[in-house]
Amino acid sequence: MNDTQAYISPVWPSFTDIVAERGEGCYIHAQDGRTYLDFTSGIGVTNTGHCHPAVVEAAREQVGKIIHAQVNILFHPPLLRLADALREVVPGPLDTFFFSNSGAEALEGAVKLARHATGRPNIIVFQGSFHGRTNLTMAMTTSKTIYRQHYQPLAAGVFVAPYPYAYRYGWDAEETSQWCLRELRHLLASQTAPSETAAIIVEPVLGEGGYVVPPASFLQGLRQICDEHGILLVADEVQSGFGRTGKFFAVEHFDLVPDIMTMAKGLASGFPLSGIAAPRALMDRWLTGTHGGTYGGNAVACAAAVATVGVLQEGLVENAARMGEVLMDGLRALQSRVPVIGDVRGLGLMIGVEFTNPDGTPATELVKEVIGRCLDNKLILLNCGTYGNVVRWIPPLIVTQDQIETGLEVFAGALAASA
Ligand SMILES: Cc1ncc(COP(=O)(O)O)c(C=O)c1O
Repeated sequence: MNDTQAYISPVWPSFTDIVAERGEGCYIHAQDGRTYLDFTSGIGVTNTGHCHPAVVEAAREQVGKIIHAQVNILFHPPLLRLADALREVVPGPLDTFFFSNSGAEALEGAVKLARHATGRPNIIVFQGSFHGRTNLTMAMTTSKTIYRQHYQPLAAGVFVAPYPYAYRYGWDAEETSQWCLRELRHLLASQTAPSETAAIIVEPVLGEGGYVVPPASFLQGLRQICDEHGILLVADEVQSGFGRTGKFFAVEHFDLVPDIMTMAKGLASGFPLSGIAAPRALMDRWLTGTHGGTYGGNAVACAAAVATVGVLQEGLVENAARMGEVLMDGLRALQSRVPVIGDVRGLGLMIGVEFTNPDGTPATELVKEVIGRCLDNKLILLNCGTYGNVVRWIPPLIVTQDQIETGLEVFAGALAASA
């Protein structure tokens, strides 16, 4: 740590002490002259790669025109262009947009919209979910106790149902899915009546909670339960969106059309921008003036987002699907040789590798060691999962086969050295 770093609040955990001078594609050039292969994408943000030229150019051009055209006062062209661009990629009925700055803000906004639209107070989230760190989203987040430690009691009206994490339960995927749906119905019968439940909020692929892909039957079951009871289904695509899973949005893998979708991270390639998408008829039930914000829909961020959507449409989503297969094959080959790798799962370039000790306990320390060794060899990886025993693979979607192979080689070397 250098002297100045001492003045940065220690509430931020530091996974590395790299000072990034410059980012370019899949690489971080550090101030000390080292170059790292970045397979974190800033936690799933720089899907187009660091400083994609089209995104840089769009932002640069917009900065010279107008930076802040506050949305309550003015419309600006990038805002309108972004709504048009998103209508091309978001599931059909979700044609109207609200913009804010962070993922948590989008989730808070989605819940406020659902409460207004239904007149109901409660919401249901899932075990292991991560929706943010603000007061309400903290109550919606159950991936780790650290996010709520010493902040309790949290906002009321949030109920938690199990997520079909088949590997954790040790059951067959379909059996887990049906059990979770039964438990959800039980929750609606025992804790929050359907008539008091505004929304069910789900990550279509569980992110921070361990990179878990649910069976389609689970998400379709949620759709059915919501339709039966007039509950709104919110898909949180903050991490799984913008091409990450090899489709523009993860819901497309499951033929799921939610009532509300939240997005952030990959939306603007690193500019702080988040959004809520919903059908116009639903947005019309959100009383004008009851929600908003100073910066949401910032002109530079929107210009970067329009460019981001354009870049993703030029083959990056397909590349994510293709490179995801290469990465998955490589990781599964490693799994067959390394018994501590208990599970390899994911969609596209959102892949989790779960480490389990021979006695069935999470191999948290080993994951820490492996990630540390990768860093020593200039590959940046992150972990996830309640116990931190899942290595998450989220390279930029521009990643090449050579870069994937380099990543796999470094990871295999780190595993061998740690075993
Ligand atoms: C699925 C999901 N929702 C919401 C959030 C919160 O986003 P932010 O950190 O921008 O508030 C995250 C962040 O990791 C996330 O992964």
